[in-house]
Amino acid sequence: MTSAALPAPADLSAEDDAPDLLGLDVFGDGFVRDPYPWLDALRSHAPVHRDPVTGLWLVSRYEDIRAVLLDPAAFHPDNAQHAVVPLPVPVLRVLARAGFKLPPALANNGTDSHPGLRRVVTRFFNAQRVAAAVPVVERLADELLDAARARLDATGSCDLFTSYAQILPCRVLMELLGIDGVDPATLVRWSDASLELFWGRPGLERQLELAALVGAFHQWLTATVRDSAARPGSFVEALRAHRLPDGRPLDVETAVGACFFVFIAGQSTTGQLISTTLHRALSEPGLWPRAAHETGLAEAWVEEVLRREPPVTTWRRVTARPVTLGGVALPAGAQLLLMLMGSGSDPEVFDEPERMCPHRAKARHHLSFGVGRHRCPGASLARTEAAVALRAAARRLPGALLLAADEDPPVLGLLSFRAPLRVRVTR
Ligand code: HEM
Repeated sequence: MTSAALPAPADLSAEDDAPDLLGLDVFGDGFVRDPYPWLDALRSHAPVHRDPVTGLWLVSRYEDIRAVLLDPAAFHPDNAQHAVVPLPVPVLRVLARAGFKLPPALANNGTDSHPGLRRVVTRFFNAQRVAAAVPVVERLADELLDAARARLDATGSCDLFTSYAQILPCRVLMELLGIDGVDPATLVRWSDASLELFWGRPGLERQLELAALVGAFHQWLTATVRDSAARPGSFVEALRAHRLPDGRPLDVETAVGACFFVFIAGQSTTGQLISTTLHRALSEPGLWPRAAHETGLAEAWVEEVLRREPPVTTWRRVTARPVTLGGVALPAGAQLLLMLMGSGSDPEVFDEPERMCPHRAKARHHLSFGVGRHRCPGASLARTEAAVALRAAARRLPGALLLAADEDPPVLGLLSFRAPLRVRVTR
């Protein structure tokens, strides 16, 4: 990356030939429902484009995104968890009353405390732990599917998003991290509220409701971290035993910040991946019965969903100094929005990107889990859970058909998170 003098934003991105981008609204229904034409236009006409609505620089080419993620000296992660829309004072007051703070911990931490904290997380989600968790995931999936099948038999339909995709990752995470004493539905509600407050564009009334939930979540995490009777072998106990690079014990606020991120990342995103995986599988002629029995198909399907339609659609970085990216000069402090979702459809990297091709070459080259020092440490768990979830659902609900009304379901459309909010099936 080279330094450059700072031109005015209007001169930066040579977009005269990209009139299509004029109506771009990254929160708008059109973009949320069908982002592909926008992402294609960005990639080909304005690969580093300043979005006038959010003030973010949208970076859409695979190679540029990869270069950003692999250069932590020039691109810092500090803004990863900032509220996309600045929170108004009454909302900040609700959060302050709950003692809410998010010091640098994991995804938003570019300091020397990051590698050690990350190691605490990876210990819980490494390949051996994930392999050992498969029977747990299968047992929980079967339990939830038994209930879903009973509802299907009794009422003629059931929603696999609310009854299955949303709950399974939460139950799995609670087992793996050694969490108890809280209702999974409450954890799901807290986690989803956090995503909406920080990555959404809600109105004031909704923000206040969300802030109350996020405050309650933070208070529960703080009480859990402070509880001297943390379960042996639990994530909280590991954080309490952790030492910072200077030998000091980890402070409560940072431990809570780490838990906050892991709890959200570990359940909401995986629930969204399962939802998209199921919806896509039910929409693809012939795939559902094959996914039940064909070795490796569920895994390959999940990988294609991750490439083409990932749950984490964007991620943020901020420039540490003036840099040139994709031929565009950026000032220090430029807020970047990396379009992870579009990068999986970059034709420079993936042939026929619009086609779902399980077992395609370079299937795992997508950037949906990031790359480099912040690469998602939960990737293996997320992949495994989604594949188990698809296979188990296809086996236990063999004749399931997507309800016609859900062929085009409501979609969660936050700045960085996207998934169908309903997957109702009948048979
Ligand atoms: C489909 C599910 C998931 C997706 C798409 C996903 C995606 C991501 C992405 C894009 C990042 C940011 C990478 C970066 O900053 O360079 C990230 C970071 C992270 N993810 Fe995930 N994630 C998923 C599931 C999980 C799960 C299941 C866990 C934990 C159990 C998890 C824990 C984390 C943590 C702790 C980080 C921060 C790592 C660090 O800063 O060192 N994620 N994830």
